[in-house]
Amino acid sequence: MQSLLIRGGKPLYGTIPISGSKNAVLPMLAAAVLFRESCRIRNCPDLTDVHAGVAILRWLGAEVRWQGRDLLVNPEPIARWQIPGELMGLMRGSVFFTGPLLARLGNCVLSVPGGCPIGARPVDFHASGFEALGAVREGDRFFGPLTGGEICLPYPSVGATENLLMAALGASGITRIHNAAREPEIVCLCDFLRAGGCRVTGDGTDTIHIRGGLPGTGALAPIPDRMEAATFACALASAGGEIILDGADHTHLTALLEVLERSGCGIIKEKTRIILSAHGLVSPGDITTGPYPGFPTDAQAPVMAAMIRARGETIIRETVFEGRMGHVEPLRAMGARIALSGGTARITGTWELLGRKVTASDLRCGGALAVAALGARGLTEIHGVAHILRGYEDFAGKLRALGADACLA
Ligand code: EPZ
Repeated sequence: MQSLLIRGGKPLYGTIPISGSKNAVLPMLAAAVLFRESCRIRNCPDLTDVHAGVAILRWLGAEVRWQGRDLLVNPEPIARWQIPGELMGLMRGSVFFTGPLLARLGNCVLSVPGGCPIGARPVDFHASGFEALGAVREGDRFFGPLTGGEICLPYPSVGATENLLMAALGASGITRIHNAAREPEIVCLCDFLRAGGCRVTGDGTDTIHIRGGLPGTGALAPIPDRMEAATFACALASAGGEIILDGADHTHLTALLEVLERSGCGIIKEKTRIILSAHGLVSPGDITTGPYPGFPTDAQAPVMAAMIRARGETIIRETVFEGRMGHVEPLRAMGARIALSGGTARITGTWELLGRKVTASDLRCGGALAVAALGARGLTEIHGVAHILRGYEDFAGKLRALGADACLA
C-alpha cells in the first residue's frame, strides 16, 4: 500500500494552483442525470471521488467522456435507477444521485452511502424530504410522481439541501427548502442548473425556491476547492514561509482566514489568489465549527495540526460531526499535547513535533497529518493515502512545488 513520506522542518515557499472543488463537482456530476441533453463540467479535478461519480453515471447508462480536464456527459440513455452497493459505498457523494434519479425516472433507492468515518451520517433528512415532495416509500425505495411543497430541514445539511433541490426539479410546481445549508458549493450547483435553464433562487441563504422543470443543456466549472486551500494555508502556518494559493477565492474562507490571522499569519487577499506568510504562531483562541459561514468542519483537523505549533492553548469544538476527532491519536503519536473530551480538544502548543509512522483514518485527517509532518523534525510516513487521493489532487506534487520534501512511496 502507498504511503506519503514527508521530511519536515523546511519552510514553504512558492505558488500552487488550487483545483476545482471536490464538494462542488460531486453534486454537479449527480446533477448531470437531470439534463435533457449533454452537459459539460469544466476543469474537473483528478480525484478518486470524481472517478467514482463517473463510474456511477456510466452504470446508470450515461455516456461520459473526458475532453482534457472537461467532462462531457450525455445522460439521454440513462434507464437504470438503482445504484449497486459497491458504487454507493465508494463515497458520501453517491447519495447525491438519488434525488436526480427520483426526479428524472420517478424512482430511486436511498441506501446509506460510503464516505469518511466521522460520525453516524444517516440519510433521514434526505428520506423525509423525498416524502415531503410526495414520493411514496417502500423500504429504501422511493417513487413518484413528485409535487412541489415545503421542506423544513432539521439541520442545514449540505448534502440533503443539494439532493432535495435536485429532486424538486422533477416536481410539479414550486418547492421551498427551509433551513437550507448556505455553502458556496450549493450556489455553484445552482449556477450549473441555471446554466441549463432551471429557475432556482435563494441559494446561499437559508431558504431556497425551486420551480419544477429539468435543465436542458449547460456547462460550468466548479468553484475552487476551498478545503484544499484551507489545508495548504494550515500547512504554511505549521511550516512557516510564504506561499501563494493561485485561483483560491478568499470570500469562501472568511472564518478560517480570520483564525489564521489571529494566530499571527500574514494574509493578503486578492481577487483570484491568496498570499500567506507565517513565522511562528500564537494561539488564536477558541475555535468552534459550524454550518457556513461558520468555521468549516472540514478545516478542523488541518487547523488543529497547525495550532500544535502555536504558543499558548487553543480549544477546538467540533459541533457538526460527532465522530470527527480521529486525527487526535496520530497527532499525539507525533508529540502533540491534546486533551480530548467528547467533541472538544484542548491543544497545548509545543515547539517539538517528531516524525512518526501514522495512519490517516479519513480525508481531512490525512491533510492534518501532512500539516503536522511539515512542522515536525524528521521523517513522517503517512499510511491510508487512499483517503488523501479522494480529495486532494496531486497532493505530494503540490507540496514539492512549495519546496517540501514529500513523495508517495
Ligand atoms: C458534506 O457532507 C461534505 N461532503 C462534507 O465534506 C462536509 O464536512 C459536510 O457537508 C458539512 O459541511 C460532500 O459534500 C461530499 P451534512 P454531508 O449532511 O452532506 C447530519 C469532506 O471532508 N445529517 O451537512 O454528508 C450529519 O450526520 C467531507 O470533504 C443527519 O443527521 O454533511 C452531520 O452530523 C466530509 N441526517 C450533519 O447533519 C441526514 O440525513 C451535517 O451533515 C444528513 C445529515
